[in-house]
Amino acid sequence: MRFRIIVSRMEVTTLSDLEVRMSSSIANGAAAPRERPVQVPDFLAARKRGHRLTVLTAYDYTFAKLLDEAGVDGILVGDSLGMVFQGRDNSLAVTLDEMIYHTKAVVRGVRRSLVIADMPFMTYQLHPQQALENAGRLVKEGGAQAVKLEGGRRTAAAIAAITQADIPVMAHVGMTPQSIHRFGGFRVQRDAEKILEDAVAVEQAGAFAVVVECVPSELAAKITETLSIPTIGIGAGSQCDGQILVTPDMIGLYGDFRPKFVKLFASLGDQIRAAVQEYTREVRSGSFPGTEHEYR
Ligand code: KIV
Repeated sequence: MRFRIIVSRMEVTTLSDLEVRMSSSIANGAAAPRERPVQVPDFLAARKRGHRLTVLTAYDYTFAKLLDEAGVDGILVGDSLGMVFQGRDNSLAVTLDEMIYHTKAVVRGVRRSLVIADMPFMTYQLHPQQALENAGRLVKEGGAQAVKLEGGRRTAAAIAAITQADIPVMAHVGMTPQSIHRFGGFRVQRDAEKILEDAVAVEQAGAFAVVVECVPSELAAKITETLSIPTIGIGAGSQCDGQILVTPDMIGLYGDFRPKFVKLFASLGDQIRAAVQEYTREVRSGSFPGTEHEYR
């Protein structure tokens, strides 16, 4: 009985239906209705129906709430926080406890999107048991619904161990940022045969989706055609089943490094600087606070 209800709900509500209803309610200024949360099977259903998936990163409650209200399908608590939140040169120093802390904050802001938490460097490479224990912490303590880890064939055993415990795994192939020292920087990856083999290996190991980062578009299209799980592209062209970007990159908040594949959808960094300059001017001139901001 319970199973039948879930199935019938899935049939009547597609991801794009949810997006349309969500964005129109926000456009009308109405409070967003409580929508059915996006779940892992919805990602697979979206791929079957040809609905493109949207995923963005968030690291805190406020941004997670904004992304969720705007109707994004998935929110990744990415270890990119090492760069855009902590100001490091790469993500390698991020710890599992930090990821749990940020995941908890993100989950509090989300009502609808699927929350996926990144597994940081050296929290899944030692052996499958280590990977399973740490994935379990991201779900139990952080509240994530799925985890993401980098690598293809070499992480297949970890993916298998995690998925066998019913924790959904999003894989990540191509330019995997935790391999930055081996790659010699954030470089486009062009070894088509190896990357395709990696993608096939993570699907066979049980991943429900795979991020394909910074590879030629033709290769991403070939991976998408070969796999039956959704491909989520970043710097991988338009033929993937969905797209992901690092949010501070695409809204112009993080300017230290901007790869070619990032489109600026807003320039919030400029707006914030202008707002802070105006605040500073008004405080110094005595025009803020005005009488309307005072308690009598
Ligand atoms: O950490 C992250 O934000 C990521 C995305 C770039 C896919 O892995």
